Amino acid sequence: MADGDGAARTTSVVEPLLVEQRRFPPSPEFREHAWVKDRTPWEEAERDFEAFWAKHAEAELTWFRKWDRVLEWNAPWAKWFIGGQLNASYNCVDRHAQSWRRTKAAIVWEGEPGDSRVLTYQDLHREVQKFANVLKSLGVQKGDRVSIYMGMVPELPIAMLACARIGAPHSVVFGGFSSDALRDRIQDAEAKVLITQDGAWRRGSIVPLKQLADKALTECPSVEKVVVVRRIGDAAEATMVEGRDYWWHELMATADPVCPAEPLDAEHPLYILYTSGTTGKPKGILHTTGGYLLGVTLTTKWVFDLKDDDYYWCTADIGWVTGHSYIVYGPLSNGATTVMYEGAPDWPEKDRYWDIVEKYRINILYTSPTFIRTAMKWGTEWPAKHDLSSLRLLGTVGEPINPEAWMWYHEHIGHGRCPIVDTWWQTETGMIMITPLPGVVTTKPGSATIPFPGVVADVVDEQGNSCPPNVGGYLVLKRPWPAMLRTFWGDPDRYVKTYWSRFPGIYFTGDGARRDEDGYFWITGRVDDVVNVAGHRLSNIEIESTLVAHPAVAEAAVIGRNDPIKGQAISAFVVLKAGYQPSEDLKHELREWVAEKISPIARPADVFFTADLPKTRSAKIMRRLLRDIAEGRVLGDTTTLTDPAVIAEIKKQYEEREAAE
Ligand code: WT7
Repeated sequence: MADGDGAARTTSVVEPLLVEQRRFPPSPEFREHAWVKDRTPWEEAERDFEAFWAKHAEAELTWFRKWDRVLEWNAPWAKWFIGGQLNASYNCVDRHAQSWRRTKAAIVWEGEPGDSRVLTYQDLHREVQKFANVLKSLGVQKGDRVSIYMGMVPELPIAMLACARIGAPHSVVFGGFSSDALRDRIQDAEAKVLITQDGAWRRGSIVPLKQLADKALTECPSVEKVVVVRRIGDAAEATMVEGRDYWWHELMATADPVCPAEPLDAEHPLYILYTSGTTGKPKGILHTTGGYLLGVTLTTKWVFDLKDDDYYWCTADIGWVTGHSYIVYGPLSNGATTVMYEGAPDWPEKDRYWDIVEKYRINILYTSPTFIRTAMKWGTEWPAKHDLSSLRLLGTVGEPINPEAWMWYHEHIGHGRCPIVDTWWQTETGMIMITPLPGVVTTKPGSATIPFPGVVADVVDEQGNSCPPNVGGYLVLKRPWPAMLRTFWGDPDRYVKTYWSRFPGIYFTGDGARRDEDGYFWITGRVDDVVNVAGHRLSNIEIESTLVAHPAVAEAAVIGRNDPIKGQAISAFVVLKAGYQPSEDLKHELREWVAEKISPIARPADVFFTADLPKTRSAKIMRRLLRDIAEGRVLGDTTTLTDPAVIAEIKKQYEEREAAE
């Protein structure tokens, strides 16, 4: 475990010089047509937050049975809409397929150059019902878990909605994860069925998903059947195991197109999604049906001011929560047109995103600060080549956005015309929690602004007392919200310990923040042992454990250091076992080792060999000191170190490298 370095980094008064002065109030035209035009929702939620959520649960969702009670809160255990019955698949598909939206585009899919596909709500209805019947025919019953390991193809949301339809919680595993990572997640969820693809396209080359899945499955006895989407064909070199593996298209060819949506309790598990925590083992965040669906439906509608004639595009991968909530469930529940893109932002050229915006005349674009900073680096000539005049609202998520990147987005993409919503939330929160509502809230570049109506957030010190304005502390949430995680799959004790123990009865986010004199939140980043690389969440300890699993490595410490593009980059400090010599080859090998064992997103940007690691007398690695070195800060207190010479040696190496670059 690391020392308690969070407090040391976040508790400081911000210099007035650094305070952002620019303000962007909503334009009268935008406000006039916005879903939310004034403070009424905040006032309503303040008066009676349960009544607020109940009112919108009634208005936004279709229920098979109305709830008896809105909330049962035995901190930290929440139940929302007790006694209510509904189905997420019905809400996302059937109710639109049975309305005038039948012929409206539900999913617009843009594949790697050359491919595209549009599914209307009627098409989606048919495909989801057929696949739900396929799942049933493979023995999947209500409550069984289904793992999904796919790229960004339309069969992915179809599979998710089919699971939701029959009450089988899905567990989507990001297609960029390794076979080991897939194995761990399947094992933890004890999935009965795996859905995958022969391979996925990535910048014109093939990611052999089926081969990777086969490797994982050698250690996953719970999996009885595998369904394989044929995306690539023979070039993927997928082999099928007789009696276990089935082609998607073959099963679908004979599937019955009618499968009514199962009425499910509001608290029935909808999905498990694994995310990195402060320990090595990824944790399965559990979301349930009613509260989650309400949270994502209402936030999608209000935060993005989503209208029926919008083309809405969230550039995330469905393998992350952003894709679950804001490509699939939120937009489809609203009956919107959601665009999904299979490929990379720079393939075939660096204007691929702008090309898509122009091609579909995208109205709402939701992307990451890392992408914006990357696009800034590529230069304004790329967006300038395209007609971006269809855009009317821009969003960001995943990491703090620096004011320069915000301004660039505003000027070069929004042409000064589009409100920007910087949305703070987490896999755990399920829904957007701190955000402007674009018709009401004046934005400040770099601030996620204020909590969504009904949400109570605060910044507190070590003792849990609210910090005064502009004093940094811990970001916490003080009231339950409908889309909150319910527990960790199979590990309720750790759920309590991780989020509810530091400040009893209050949810600890793991982020540092400050609130300014207007009550606006400025998120400063993680204060726990979690690194955020390009909006991807990774655990220091998981990467360290992976490094230590390499035969040459005795000990390792991993930190996230500032990176101008990705927000953070990973630096690894490695102590070799006797008999191994530092070399450039070994550095390379260790970087690739981590990429292969976890994912390319976890690959360390740099590896340093050191004779020892800085530790406290209680043998905790002092990551804070390593971060100070990596970010060129004056070293803090080193008196608690067992051997201060260690840190001097590491510092020297860092400085030598800097000088060489
Ligand atoms: C962590 C959650 C939620 C979707 C994607 C990430 C960071 C997220 C912002 C933002 C500053 C942000 C936080 C948070 N984060 N959005 N707008 N400003 N930081 O989900 O993988 O669960 O990561 O992402 O550090 O705790 P996630």
